[in-house]
Amino acid sequence: MTRTHPQNLLFPSLFIILLFTLLFLTSNGDVGTAAQYSPPYLPTDCYGSDSSQFPSSNLFAAAGDGIWDNGASCGRQYLVRCISAAVTGTCIPDTTIQIRIVDYAAGVASKPSADGTTMVLSQTAFAAIANSTATSINIEFQQV
Ligand SMILES: *[C@@H]1O[C@H](CO)[C@@H](O)[C@H](O)[C@H]1NC(C)=O
Repeated sequence: MTRTHPQNLLFPSLFIILLFTLLFLTSNGDVGTAAQYSPPYLPTDCYGSDSSQFPSSNLFAAAGDGIWDNGASCGRQYLVRCISAAVTGTCIPDTTIQIRIVDYAAGVASKPSADGTTMVLSQTAFAAIANSTATSINIEFQQV
């Protein structure tokens, strides 16, 4: 009968620890939440009634208090990815979108699907990363 030496377990363990450290360090994003909102999208707190403020992709968002930065967030671009939700299978896997901040979440013309989220995504943006029937999702986001 062979006996497993503790040394034989050391290298696989170190390898796994190294792998997780690398994964953690290479992901610079913050974790937050996102809701969605529907039209009318105008006027916005950033650019008023100017309809040219929306990217042609319709991937835009209103900033929640955490990232609004007293209006300095207007025009900032974020990479956003859905990481989890209350209902399993809500996130569309391996999908990251780039959105532009055009409004302040507390001041949007139509009511967001959830209050107090990090950001409120346009319908197009939300549907690109999650099941559009969801009201709120957990996201990873990173300014670009
Ligand atoms: C989206 O969620 C609804 C409600 O949970 C579900 O009925 C539907 O099948 C989901 N759609 C997809 C594409 O997963």
